[in-house]
Amino acid sequence: MKDQEYEYFYEDEGDTKYCYPGSNVLINKLDIRELELLHEAERDYSAVRQAELLMQGVTGDFSFQHLCAIHRQLFQDIYAWAGTVRSVDISKGTIFCLVQFIEDQFTYLYRQLKRDDFLMDISDKEKMSVRLAYYLAEINMIHPFREGNGRTQRVYIEQLCMKNGRFEIDFTEAAKEGMIEASVASAKDSNALLEQLIFKCLVEVKE
Ligand SMILES: Nc1ncnc2c1ncn2[C@@H]1O[C@H](COP(=O)(O)OP(=O)(O)OP(=O)(O)O)[C@@H](O)[C@H]1O
Ligand SMILES: [Mg+2]
Repeated sequence: MKDQEYEYFYEDEGDTKYCYPGSNVLINKLDIRELELLHEAERDYSAVRQAELLMQGVTGDFSFQHLCAIHRQLFQDIYAWAGTVRSVDISKGTIFCLVQFIEDQFTYLYRQLKRDDFLMDISDKEKMSVRLAYYLAEINMIHPFREGNGRTQRVYIEQLCMKNGRFEIDFTEAAKEGMIEASVASAKDSNALLEQLIFKCLVEVKE
């Protein structure tokens, strides 16, 4: 809900910068004005783009530019701002990173990932689940985009698995509610649920 006092603070509903006046429908390239129809179109277009990304393998170096490029590819058909950092602060009960810190926070995380050698050394499934859950939870807390964070961060995690080469991850195994529950828990106290969810989606590839 829009907070009248602090106009830059929003729950996951409408905001005047991104939405059609008086609604919570994001302004979109297809000019769809109905939320359900927009969600459908978003799902369909991003699914095609996600399949396209999957064929392309690892599409970048895991930097912030890489994450933005994934978002751009997924949502280029729907949103003019695809691939760009949000310009409003958002919260979904969880308060995500403030706009002015998004890029720095991601760069900090990226340096950590680099020190972790992009998880290249990990061959144990449980250990991989723990580290992937950590990075997924951290990226989720940054929530760089106005919409489409879930799909973008899952592709990023998929590509980390591809780079490692010993694992594949199939998030379609996880129900949306399970992902939200695990994300909320990771924001509040523990990554345990997210680790379990990832463990279930992770498949060891025969070498
Ligand atoms: N209350 C919450 N606290 C923390 N994280 C949350 C919360 N609600 C949702 N999330 C996370 O945010 C993601 C949704 O973000 P967003 O709506 O920007 O992207 P999306 O691509 O539409 O995601 P999805 O495909 O998962 O619905 C979820 O996948 C989940 O990981
Ligand atoms: Mg969404």
